[in-house]
Amino acid sequence: MFRLVSRCSRLLRSPKYTRGHSRHVARRSVASNAVIAGLGAATLAGLAWNGYKSTANCAAAEESLSAGAARPGLPEYRLEEVATHKTEDTGIWVTYKDGVYDISEFIATHPGGSEKIILAAGASIEPYWEVFAAHNTAEVQDMLEELRIGNVHPSDRSQSKGVMVDGPYANDPTRSPVLKVNTQTPFNAETPTVLLSEAYITPNNLFFVRNHLPVPDVDPQNYVLEVKGEGSKPVRLTLEDLRSKFKQYSITAAVQCAGNRRSELAEVKKVKGLNWTGGAIGNAAWSGVRLRDVLLYAGLEDCESCTLKHIHLEGLDNNPVTGECYGASIPIEKAMDPRGDCLLALEMNGEPLPRDHGYPLRALVPGTVGARNVKWLTRIEASTKEYPGHWQQNDYKGFSPGVDWDTVDFSTAPAIQELPVTSLITSPQGGVTLVRSDEAVSVRGVAWSGGGREVVRVDVSSDGGHTWTTAELSNTKDQPLGRAWAWKLWEATVPLPKEGNAELCCKAVDMSYNVQPDTTAPIWNLRGCLSNAWHRVNCTIK
Ligand code: MTE
Repeated sequence: MFRLVSRCSRLLRSPKYTRGHSRHVARRSVASNAVIAGLGAATLAGLAWNGYKSTANCAAAEESLSAGAARPGLPEYRLEEVATHKTEDTGIWVTYKDGVYDISEFIATHPGGSEKIILAAGASIEPYWEVFAAHNTAEVQDMLEELRIGNVHPSDRSQSKGVMVDGPYANDPTRSPVLKVNTQTPFNAETPTVLLSEAYITPNNLFFVRNHLPVPDVDPQNYVLEVKGEGSKPVRLTLEDLRSKFKQYSITAAVQCAGNRRSELAEVKKVKGLNWTGGAIGNAAWSGVRLRDVLLYAGLEDCESCTLKHIHLEGLDNNPVTGECYGASIPIEKAMDPRGDCLLALEMNGEPLPRDHGYPLRALVPGTVGARNVKWLTRIEASTKEYPGHWQQNDYKGFSPGVDWDTVDFSTAPAIQELPVTSLITSPQGGVTLVRSDEAVSVRGVAWSGGGREVVRVDVSSDGGHTWTTAELSNTKDQPLGRAWAWKLWEATVPLPKEGNAELCCKAVDMSYNVQPDTTAPIWNLRGCLSNAWHRVNCTIK
């Protein structure tokens, strides 16, 4: 329930008023900064609203209605119009259910704390509340209602928010509008980086999606996993077989695309590939059976002199024109290693795999590049050779910065398997204004290394790497030595430079003392893979 806002209050928050007002940047102490950062998701919808509440001093009419309900007498806005209000100049609007809200003043007075709610600018805030349900409290709804300027136009009220697509992609699943879309067909979208460090476990509908082809629609009753290869008897397993014949395991593991942070390499020189910023990584709890157990069941021998070297993994998705399906392979050593933890995953975060993430079964090869984590898995084959398909042979490989498209020979480079150490600043976001008198800034992020190598330290700087502060790492007790498949969240309070602006940067160190390279130019490669230089974020200081 909420208080209806008086006309006086609404007028004060009109875009015209807000434009002038938003030039005043609120000053906050480091402590309050830290509170806002620490309760990051709360800001999406949460406690930072409290600061706003205290500034709303016009008397509000007292009337009870549920938050977001259409309210007689308010102006009606088409969603098209709401979508044009995304910037300080136009005023920043969001919708919640049938309500339209002008959050410009809130954004202006909480420049750091508003970096998540701004993601909803011009659109509905509901998808964020679906993800971070804990923050959709009556108190927050009440505060949101104080920013109410109107109702969603009746003809837009039940409008589907999904994107309509024709052709082979018409049957793709509906996705969360929170994802930052790179391409619609095939669907490729990343998690907004500011949300990555909101939780140790990335929610399913926020997890980045990397598809090369249309998403198969698999009937679980007819689904069969085929296992074959030299030294093994051909085996066909149903989902029920996988559940009943094998011990079930769970691991927490990050999955990262080889092209994550490609956008930074693209700033050096043109690269070919999706322009991922930093959100093509996520951390989830995966459950299913061990690949090793299934291979042993099929008769594969666990011996060192074995001539078989590779395990092929093939998906049900295929190119509607050429018929080529997605496939990859991993070394047999990784597949058979009892400490390698390779899973045939049936579940993601305690739910059946979502369609975009491989329903009903995917390979989960922890510590290994996303490309080998084959989704919609239908065939496993042990072989003396690597998988022959495009994505194993002619993609997902690294090259020298001196190699270009005239000279590249994909057969000369090994397929990427384990990924190098990396870290990312998730907050503050680039372009945020910091306050000099705060003297320090709270910096948050994520860090991960491939091959199960635990991240043991993250260093953070606010002056481009001249001085460093060691970050506090989140606890990941469930990760045994050499099997640190999950990412770590980290946070540091870093002194601000006395002069000039802040060049925030971070670098992670893993248990083998591998450390990220400082710049991107020496690791540039034509496909834009393996981008793991120090992550840098520029912020103005006032
Ligand atoms: N498996 C199939 N069958 N088809 C694909 O397009 N993409 C791969 C991998 N497995 C892909 C696939 C790539 S490149 C990545 S990074 C991961 O899936 C992404 O997994 P996600 O979409 O669950 O995040």
